[in-house]
Amino acid sequence: MNKPEIIQLPRVLDNRGNLSFVEQGRHVPFSIRRSYWIYDVPGGEGRGGHAFRRAQELIIALSGSFDVCLTDGVDSMTFSLNRSYYGLYVPAGWWRTIENFSTNSFALILASTDYDAEDYIRNFEHFKEWKKTL
Ligand code: TYD
Repeated sequence: MNKPEIIQLPRVLDNRGNLSFVEQGRHVPFSIRRSYWIYDVPGGEGRGGHAFRRAQELIIALSGSFDVCLTDGVDSMTFSLNRSYYGLYVPAGWWRTIENFSTNSFALILASTDYDAEDYIRNFEHFKEWKKTL
């Protein structure tokens, strides 16, 4: 899977409240090494603005909505996430920004690697140069 794609997660609908879940290997094509979340985003702010050399991620809007803008330097796409049972799979090597956070939105991100500052490319020109070397 070298392209970003939306993965539909299971939904167990119940009058007591609905439930969804995610399992590595079954719903995500990588071993989940780390989870982190983004919350309390002030209006107009955005996160991201980087690419990962190695890390693959699944991004879920557990609450509220936001847009994930992606490019590999050739193809560009924007995914609007607004349901807790959809995950956006982002392969390694895609530049990404997350923007248009709604009030009280909550992004859960599952990642294939430990946090590693060296895995980040934070300069878009460097990113495009790096892509040419692959
Ligand atoms: P970062 O991924 O750089 O966020 P953004 O690109 O949206 O600004 O993370 C911000 C800071 O949080 C970074 O300096 C280091 C820290 N951080 C961790 O310590 N562990 C993590 O798993 C993540 C994602 C970030």
